[in-house]
Amino acid sequence: MQKYVDRTKQSADKIFDARTLQHDYKTVVPLIKPGMIVLDVGCGTGAITKGIAELVGPTGKVVGIDHTLEFINSGNQMNSDIENLELIHIDLMDFSPNEKFDLIVSARTLQWLTNQKEAIVKMKSLLKTNGILSVLDYIHEDIAWHPKVPDSMQRFYQSWLTWRRDSGMNNRMADDLPDLFRETGFQNIEIYEANEYYPNNHPLFVDKLKIWLKVASSKQLVEEGYVSEDLRQTAIHDYQNWIDEEALSMEMVLKEVRGLSL
Ligand SMILES: C[S@@+](CC[C@H](N)C(=O)[O-])C[C@H]1O[C@@H](n2cnc3c(N)ncnc32)[C@H](O)[C@@H]1O
Repeated sequence: MQKYVDRTKQSADKIFDARTLQHDYKTVVPLIKPGMIVLDVGCGTGAITKGIAELVGPTGKVVGIDHTLEFINSGNQMNSDIENLELIHIDLMDFSPNEKFDLIVSARTLQWLTNQKEAIVKMKSLLKTNGILSVLDYIHEDIAWHPKVPDSMQRFYQSWLTWRRDSGMNNRMADDLPDLFRETGFQNIEIYEANEYYPNNHPLFVDKLKIWLKVASSKQLVEEGYVSEDLRQTAIHDYQNWIDEEALSMEMVLKEVRGLSL
């Protein structure tokens, strides 16, 4: 089964809610046409999903699935007025809908799975003939902070990558997607650069940089022996000072990979 290790569901909620289709999955927009039936896998609270609902219009429909109940409950409360949007609490591997989809999208979700290939096979099985799968994901190893973050945060981040790798997650998920698409039988595979770049004049600059304070607020890496409590606290302190006094930009590296299922 997939593994999604969530730390602070409430703050994750807020990060997801602030995302939009146009800003946070913009490469997929030209694919979305009125009347399409779309599935969003790992939809969180549906913030991106509702943008898809708008584009497919009243003759189309979008279903979002997520295995975290809090996100689906919160999404359903916020979006109850959108008639062509349905958010369902279910794990991808347990999802057996009656209909198949023209387009399946999945943003920032495969990076949390340990069975990425099985997940792609499962998504392929849910596509209509000539349906398209689009996956947007990170290359966590290539994140770039300018100037460099303090040594304590560098060390914390490296330990986070090691913890992820040891748990079976892929720190270069987007890089490996084209091969996985090929191995699972997709055709016409295309790759789009989709980096998130936050310079210090970006309206969400501080909020986006603070994502690493949220990651470090969890004691999971300490409990599992990957960092000392001292390093965790020093990283939080030093990184907060770096944001306040030095930070100029952060760039998270992402790619969208899409393929056609014949
Ligand atoms: C980082 S969030 C991305 C949310 C949204 N797609 C976005 O880009 O903002 C990853 C989401 O995938 C969900 N998820 C992880 N594994 C899943 C699975 N096996 N089945 C369904 N949802 C899953 C998590 O609960 C989480 O909400």
